[in-house]
Amino acid sequence: MKHPALRAVLTACLAAASFAGHAAEAKPGVAEKLYQANCAACHGVKMEGAVGPSLGDHAWLHGAPTKANLIKIIGKGVPEKDMPAWSPALNATQIALLADLIAANAAKPAVALTPEAKAQQTVPDLNGFKLPKGFHISVYANQVSAARSMVVSDSGVVYVGSRKAGKVYALVPRADKQTADVLTVAEGLEHPIGVTLLNGALYVGEISRVIRFDNIDKRYAQKPSYEVLKVSLPNDKWHGEKVIKAGPDGKLYIPVGAPCNVCDVEDSRSAKIYRMNADGSQLEEYARGVRNTVGFAFHPTTKVLWFTDNGRDEMGDNTPSCELNVAPKAGLHFGFPYCHGGVVPDPDFAKGRSCEEFEPPAAKLGPHVAPLGLSFYTGKQFPEAYRNNVYIAEHGSWNRSTKSGYSVRLITLYNSKVVTDTAFIDGFLRGEEVVGRPVDVATLPDGSMLVSDDYGGRVYRVTYDGK
Ligand code: HEC
Repeated sequence: MKHPALRAVLTACLAAASFAGHAAEAKPGVAEKLYQANCAACHGVKMEGAVGPSLGDHAWLHGAPTKANLIKIIGKGVPEKDMPAWSPALNATQIALLADLIAANAAKPAVALTPEAKAQQTVPDLNGFKLPKGFHISVYANQVSAARSMVVSDSGVVYVGSRKAGKVYALVPRADKQTADVLTVAEGLEHPIGVTLLNGALYVGEISRVIRFDNIDKRYAQKPSYEVLKVSLPNDKWHGEKVIKAGPDGKLYIPVGAPCNVCDVEDSRSAKIYRMNADGSQLEEYARGVRNTVGFAFHPTTKVLWFTDNGRDEMGDNTPSCELNVAPKAGLHFGFPYCHGGVVPDPDFAKGRSCEEFEPPAAKLGPHVAPLGLSFYTGKQFPEAYRNNVYIAEHGSWNRSTKSGYSVRLITLYNSKVVTDTAFIDGFLRGEEVVGRPVDVATLPDGSMLVSDDYGGRVYRVTYDGK
């Protein structure tokens, strides 16, 4: 036996086997108990497989799962492959009971996994991703269920929000610096998609409130307590999830989406971006006419706010475009619900208004691509041409007849004007198969880039080695 971990499991198993040996009569449940005591550690409590193979519907390694075959393999084991021989630790009756149990399990129709569950269980073939020459992609952390926005602390801990999982995670770098352990900082929260750091505290945006974990880098592993900010914002469920970002002015920026596909929100508190002090005081409107922004960032040198906005639905596959916007000052109107994508008047709401009245997008990203998080790359690892440009995670369309988005885009800038919009990472969509949906982009202290994926529940890492 090669692996110490397996040896430990086996020692425990054999101890349990001799204990279980007293209860060898064929009572119902005996076989199940034998299985749980001796086999589950390696084959999974539901025979779904762990360090040993699944004992359900799979490509059987040692011939068809007939009773005779199973008795043989359980008795003799495959010692060179870490499957112990169970004779004589278990007697012939016990082995026969186990063979019956496994044969019955093997005959059960396989539980069909949803495509999403499948994506979570299987890391996609990394060669299926396409990046520019010299860039490489790997998995930084798995089992980051529903991973959404990310923020990186100075010490290199990555805080990640989630949606339905209700959790905030901390990705703590391992010694190799190429992968991370996943810890749960908090759970049971209401779609805590937004995370940001300010003055050493982690702020989390939920649908109905903003919470703050002080001194987070010292406390993430201890299920830390939190404070609830005294701020009241609309908490509609539709487009009600809230990213949150600390601005260069020391304020917190937070959006409230339109509670609809398209509706009149002009005199309401929705479809706006707000900002407030770190304690929630002095809440003020910063931008309006913003349908549903799920990501923003501040330009590294101009300090100006850039944000994505998701275009309205139900105008067909090809219009209107989602937007990348720039808000250099407070009080600008970005068009919703009157004008979409800078040029498309709304068929119901545009009456008497013209697109010229509103701020045009800095870039039209395409219809239904669902741009979420964006980030300026300020690291030193990527070549010059890749720095201080915008990276946008496009979650991908949910209702377009041909899927679009599912990509991380590189938007190059010259003097804060958009020059090009090209794919930086493609391959989250393979044919019609979705293997991941990008949500946010962040940079680690070593200059490598992280991309969160809420579909596969993992975080990828992109490095550059110039080869
Ligand atoms: C220490 C880990 C370990 C334990 C404990 C263990 N197995 Fe296994 N088992 C394995 C491994 C690894 C294999 C795959 C061997 C190979 O690659 O040929 C295997 C293979 C098998 C197979 C053949 C699967 C196939 O695809 O053909 C059966 C059946 C099986 N085990 C039954 C059992 C039963 C029943 C028990 C409990 C009495 C048990 N195993 C306990 C590790 C374990």
